[in-house]
Amino acid sequence: MPNAIVVGMQWGDEGKGKIIDILSATADVVIRFQGGANAGHTVVVDGKQSVLHLVPSGILHDNCKCVIGNGVVIDPDSLIGEVDALKEGGYLKNDERLSISDRAHLVLPYHKVIDQLREKQLGKASIGTTGRGIGPCYEDKAARLGVRAGELKRFDLFEERLNQIMSIKNKQIEDLGGDRIDLDKLLMDAKGWSESLKSHIVDAEEFIHESLDKGDKILFEGAQGAMLDIDHGTFPFVTSSNTVAGGACAGSGVGPTAIDQVVGIIKAYTTRVGNGPFPTELDDSVGEHLQVTGGEVGATTGRKRRCGWFDAVIAKHAARTNGVTQLVITKLDVLSGLKNLKLCTGYRIDGKEVRTMPSSIKSYDNIELIYEDMPGWEDDISSIRNYDDLPNEAKSYVQRISDVVGAPIAMISVGVERDAHIAMRNPFE
Ligand code: GDP
Ligand code: IMO
Ligand code: MG
Repeated sequence: MPNAIVVGMQWGDEGKGKIIDILSATADVVIRFQGGANAGHTVVVDGKQSVLHLVPSGILHDNCKCVIGNGVVIDPDSLIGEVDALKEGGYLKNDERLSISDRAHLVLPYHKVIDQLREKQLGKASIGTTGRGIGPCYEDKAARLGVRAGELKRFDLFEERLNQIMSIKNKQIEDLGGDRIDLDKLLMDAKGWSESLKSHIVDAEEFIHESLDKGDKILFEGAQGAMLDIDHGTFPFVTSSNTVAGGACAGSGVGPTAIDQVVGIIKAYTTRVGNGPFPTELDDSVGEHLQVTGGEVGATTGRKRRCGWFDAVIAKHAARTNGVTQLVITKLDVLSGLKNLKLCTGYRIDGKEVRTMPSSIKSYDNIELIYEDMPGWEDDISSIRNYDDLPNEAKSYVQRISDVVGAPIAMISVGVERDAHIAMRNPFE
């Protein structure tokens, strides 16, 4: 029963999309289990780039069935746009390859409006959200005011639900200084969403358990990363779901006993988009090298990503909270040309050495970083496909990451293309 959860170990954008695409070549099913269109997973095949926000990154392989699980919050417009783009690209020839859980909640226009108005109201204290309505939608789910994908298949129920909710939502919008949303227009748009999506909306739990019973190879695709987890991240500068591996079970409807491996994706350095603490952030020429050479621009919002050295404190925290059994180190090629590398192995807070993640962001106010220096390498490594061919300095660097995190390396990624990686072991085994 070789099933694996794939998660990000930093602040998102670790290259999960690229790695899931590679692993999907031998998977039967890929299930997204949390988050929404705040995610941007970039996959490049033969020079052609696809950016996936809601559709699992296994969709580019014809062999692979994809499921948007119950834990995901779905923006129907965004999803329809994505499906159309995939079809135009010649990728989604068979509609049956994409299933949407009828239990997944819908991100409706008022969620996006509330998200954006609230950010504006917070001013300097804003989270820097993607403005995609993610927080407000998960709030409604917890408040039991949400609308689920299944209701798009029963339009009478959808309409009834919206009639109950709309006045509450419009009051919220007005309190934030925004303009009311027109219910009739929303219902008209929803008819279109229903037409486009209803053939995909199914009891996904049923489908997933049939796959498990058949012994299919299943990948659970995480979005964001451990440091954006609502419980284990840098609260309140986080997203609104459990991004850690534990979320895969609740977000797809399987028990922990269905899982064999947890593959942690980690960038060879650190990035973050949006606001909030980032201890190893660099505001110098090295930060600029990482940003420019790494092409570190947000796939969803187009914002420049903040960049910094590898932080082993957050990596260890992510390894623990996810139960990572193996690592994929991405973007190692981006470090080529840097003479000296630094790896942060601890923080000193109020004169006291700390090797684990503090839970409060207040602790970051007076933080001193404990760095280990490591030599860099000159040569371009992007065409290397065998571990033995890497420069010794690159080998030492990745081995040090593996040691501090305490997990073996399954793969090293050295470029954007599907084949630009060094396979070390089978991540399913
Ligand atoms: P995700 O959200 O975790 O799927 O990551 P994103 O797709 O948002 O960001 C990762 C970016 O790095 C994308 O533009 C990828 O094409 C690119 N990328 C992934 N792996 C590598 C790598 O090993 N080297 C380089 N140079 N780029 C990579
Ligand atoms: P992938 O899956 C990077 C960040 C936002 C913001 C915070 C809250 O591509 O790795 P939200 O819109 O979720 O309420 O914003 O979380 N964020 C991401 N950062 N990658 C992502 O997804 C992200 N999804 C959300 O920038 O700081
Ligand atoms: Mg991304």
